[in-house]
Amino acid sequence: MPSSTPIEAENVAPGETKMRARDVSVYYGKKKAIDEVSIDIFTEFVTAFIGPSGCGKSTFLRALNRMNDTISSARVTGCIELDGEDIYSSDMDVVQLRARVGMVFQKPNPFPKSIYDNIAYGPKIHGLAQSKSDLDEVVEKSLRRAGLWEEVKDRLSDSGTALSGGQQQRLCIARAIAVEPEVILMDEPCSALDPIATAKIEELIDDLRGRYAIVIVTHSMQQAARVSQRTAFFHLGNLIEYGQTSDIFTNPRESRTQDYITGRYG
Ligand SMILES: Nc1ncnc2c1ncn2[C@@H]1O[C@H](COP(=O)(O)OP(=O)(O)O)[C@@H](O)[C@H]1O
Ligand SMILES: [Mg+2]
Repeated sequence: MPSSTPIEAENVAPGETKMRARDVSVYYGKKKAIDEVSIDIFTEFVTAFIGPSGCGKSTFLRALNRMNDTISSARVTGCIELDGEDIYSSDMDVVQLRARVGMVFQKPNPFPKSIYDNIAYGPKIHGLAQSKSDLDEVVEKSLRRAGLWEEVKDRLSDSGTALSGGQQQRLCIARAIAVEPEVILMDEPCSALDPIATAKIEELIDDLRGRYAIVIVTHSMQQAARVSQRTAFFHLGNLIEYGQTSDIFTNPRESRTQDYITGRYG
């Protein structure tokens, strides 16, 4: 299939398209890391990006909220829209964009601040809370939604960095949630966590499903199968196949997908 054909294929049930990427390429200097990728991301699903290491999953994820702007050699071509709005247009407010399209990284990265301030910081700078009681409410709601409130409600002034790895990752998810995002991008959010903390994050992702469009990069096919409803398989910078997670894992259309899910490379 020509790579410029949008992969919003028949078997990707139409829902509300939250983000639409068309012919997106990403270069680092002269090296092309993503090659003309077209994909629609839907609000009601968790979408998993899978593929061998180095195939461009993180690069493409970062293109979705312009985090590649922070890498001086990176250049993005093509079009990415959020609710029909071109996120690379010159009048797009990038700070605002990254609140609307939040990101959670591989290694939990709480600010070296209190648990409370980790959550309150974003709503404050985005003017989402007018008073202290507003702010208290946003902090509690975000921590509850991230499944962390009961564990931290008596120690909100402790440093975020004093929490366990799994708690730190849920804190980072709470921090993303606090600014009322529409999309949450997660880049291998469990790869630094033990199996119990991983299970909690997976449960949380399931709880959040439908409220936000969620895109998760994972090197674990088991995780993709557990948490996602749509899976996109990347290989060497190309989007090879995109469809219902169950189809991708049981009945892929492309031999390269088949090779990957049966462990022939990766
Ligand atoms: N900051 C960067 N500068 C130059 N090349 C990069 C940078 N980040 C990633 N790459 C290259 O782009 C390709 C895709 O990388 P990446 O998106 O990290 O893959 P994945 O997340 O699938 O492992 C790789 O060849 C990688 O070496
Ligand atoms: Mg990566």
